[in-house]
Formats: sequence, structure tokens, C-alpha cells
Amino acid sequence: MDKHLITGGAPLEGDVRISGAKNSVLPILAGCLLTDESVVIKNVPHLNDVTTMMKLLGQMGANLTVSEGLTIEVEARGLNQPYAPYELVRTMRASILVLGPLVAKYGHATVSLPGGCAIGPRPVDFHVEGLRKMGAEITVEGGYIQAVAKNGLKGANINFDIVSVTGTENLMMAAVLAKGKTIIENAAREPEVQDLGNFLNMLGANIQGHGTSTIVIEGVKSLKGGTYTVLPDRVETGTYLVAAAMTGGRIVAKATRANILTSVLEKLEEAGAHIATGEDWVSLDMRGNRPKAVDIYTSPFPGFPTDMQAQFMALNTVAIGKGILTETVFENRFMHAHELRRMGANIQLNGNTAIIEGVPHLTAAPVMATDLRASASLVLAGLVAKGTTTVDRIYHIDRGYECIEEKLAQLGATIKRVAA
Ligand code: EPU
Repeated sequence: MDKHLITGGAPLEGDVRISGAKNSVLPILAGCLLTDESVVIKNVPHLNDVTTMMKLLGQMGANLTVSEGLTIEVEARGLNQPYAPYELVRTMRASILVLGPLVAKYGHATVSLPGGCAIGPRPVDFHVEGLRKMGAEITVEGGYIQAVAKNGLKGANINFDIVSVTGTENLMMAAVLAKGKTIIENAAREPEVQDLGNFLNMLGANIQGHGTSTIVIEGVKSLKGGTYTVLPDRVETGTYLVAAAMTGGRIVAKATRANILTSVLEKLEEAGAHIATGEDWVSLDMRGNRPKAVDIYTSPFPGFPTDMQAQFMALNTVAIGKGILTETVFENRFMHAHELRRMGANIQLNGNTAIIEGVPHLTAAPVMATDLRASASLVLAGLVAKGTTTVDRIYHIDRGYECIEEKLAQLGATIKRVAA
């Protein structure tokens, strides 16, 4: 298993190019199953999760071509096996996103249940219940969801009890080819949901209200092909900005968008960062200062994203003052706190709250990544710790951060990857 070796101390300085959003490209790839025609997707990040989704579509019979310039072409016409096996779903929960498109297009699907993961139980009951409402007959047996809709799906009124990102995406994709109108209420408003809606509309779907909490989908007979460019990754952007803030640095994140990051930029300003934004860039300048501690309360978009909570915990560990983090989206997303403590962080956990008292500096230690964003927080801590930190199990980070060591090294960090 590969490890990262990070020697802390250098303020990050320079430009970093932000990749396409992982959480946009995964549903978009699944959405390609809804059409027989060829779809070209641009700005695809080179990530392990993308490889897993490509493997999944390929095993089902879709034809995928990867070409220069971060582009993938998908042709699902030859699909003959609407089946997502446990081996792939277990490595990536987002595999559940093929369920809606498969039932809508082929009238049947067998998809493994994802099971638990490091950040909580994360059930898929909303996905299943929504498809049932749309007329699918669903049985869950032997760890697999079997869904059948012999005469196709029909439009339905769906109201989520709790906002679910992939739940909204799965049902939105299913509704695109259903007969009649589907209304999804209390829908997720994340920019990635909006991106998926824009992509599907480009293919000929009739979706309105994506990006708001009520999405209305009028079913169409079929979708065509087209070319689509994936949204920039707001979590990757935020992660590099936090890295610069913690190290007292000055960076420009390029090929990104400030308006999908508002809650994160507000917190960085509160921490003492000077932020400037343009049409496709965000800059941050700490003017050499140590950050001030900030309080964070995670909630669905447009609230503060749970996917940035671990990185702000790392920031608070070296900030001036005391910061309180409250995690309301996932019940078990503080695994990084235990590892950060090994580096000298002063963190107290109390249920879904973490109280962090900033210390002047962290000390390098061997630490272990437990999930994607937790790994990012450990790398950030390594950038400010005295000595050389070893982060083990970095396969987690490769799921969601493209070329992280190259990008950080370009900003002046001392980081390398070693094979264990
Ligand atoms: N939930 C249910 N039942 C369901 C679905 C969700 O109870 O059927 C609960 C979950 O347990 C959780 C809450 O609803 O407590 C919200 O979960 P959600 O369904 O929104 O999460 P997700 O769709 O599985 C996506 C992202 C996550 C991100 C969350 C929240 C993708 C592929 N994944 O997950 O991204 O944290 O939304 O914004 O889009 C990451 O990138 O590191 C990551 C974990």
C-alpha cells in the first residue's frame, strides 16, 4: 500500500489547476446508460473512483474510449448485462447510481447493496422507496437489490425525509425516461445535482428546478447523444485553499468557480484569509499570518459541506483560539480526529461535536487514512507539522484527488509517494 511522506513547514505559493468534480462525473457516467447514442464527457478527473465507474459500465457491455485531454466517450448501446456486482459496489458506494438509469432504460437491474462505510451506515432506502413509487418491483435478497419494471417506470411524487445527494440523482435519472411527470421534493440542491440535470437536459431530457429543492421531470421517450464538460471540483478547490491558509501561504486556484464555494470562502475569510475571485479562479492570501479558529456546522448545500469538515478540523488544530465543529450529515465522520491527536492536536469529541483548541504547531507522526476527506486532512496537517509525517493507506486519497502530490509539490510542498 502506498504512503505519503510529507515534510512540513513551507508556505504554499503559486497556481493550482482544479480538476473536474468527482461527485459530478460519477452520476454523469451513470447517466450515459440512459441513451443508445454516443456521449462525450470532458474535464474528467483521473481518479480511482472514475476508473471503478468505467469498469462497472464496461462490464455491463458499454463501450468506453478514453482519449487525450481528459475526455471519455461512452456508448451504452451494446449493454447486455444490467448487473452491478458486490466486488465493485463495495469499493465505491456511488455505484448505486446505475440503479435508476438501468431500471428506466432496460426495465430490470440487479445491483449490490453498498453496505456500511467508514463514515457511517449510509443506507439506500430512499433510492429503493423512490423507485417503488415509480412502479418498480423491488426485492432485496442475498445482499442484492433486484428491480423490475416490465412496463417501464411511471412518474411519481417523491418527498425525501432527509436531503440525499445520490438519492436525488438516482431518481432524477430514473424519471427522465418514465411515463409522465415526477416531482421530487426536498431534493438535494448541490451543484453536482444541478450539473447532472444540465447534462441530462443536453441529452434531451425535460428537467426543471434542478438546483432548487423541487425538481420537476417530464418523462421523454428517449435521449440522444452529445458532449458535456464536467463542473470543477469544489471540494478539491476548498482543500487547496485550506492548505494555503494553514501554511500562511498565497495561492490561486484556477479552472474553478467561486459561486459553488460560498460557504467555504466565508469561513476562510473568517479565519483571516484575503480572498479574491474571478470568473474561473479563486485566490487566497494569508499574508504570512496564522489562521484564526472557526466554528463549522455542516449541512446540505448551500450550507457548509460535510466533505470540507475534516480539512477545517486540520486548520483549527493550528489556529489561534478554539473552534467547534458540528457534523450533522454523517454520524461517524470524525475518524481523522484520532489521527490528528497523534500529531499533537488538542481535540475533544462529544457526539457529533468536536472542540478544537489550536496549538502553535503539530509534530510529525505516522498516521493512517480512514476515508477520502479524512486522508486529505492528514496531508494538510503534515504540511504544517514539524518533521516528516507518514500517511498510510493513501488509496483513499486517490479516490478523489487527482495528482495530489504533483499539485502540492508545484505549490512548494515537500511531499512524495512511496510504495510500502
Ligand atoms: N440517507 C439515508 N437513506 C438513503 C440515503 C441517504 O438515510 O437512502 C442518509 C445518509 O445516511 C446521510 C444523509 O442521508 O446521513 C445524506 O446522505 P447522502 O445520500 O446525501 O450522501 P451520498 O449521496 O451517499 C454524496 C457524496 C458524498 C457527500 C454526501 C453529502 C457522491 C458520490 N457522494 O453521498 O461525498 O459527502 O453526498 O454531501 O456524490 C466524498 O466525496 O468524500 C463523499 C463522501
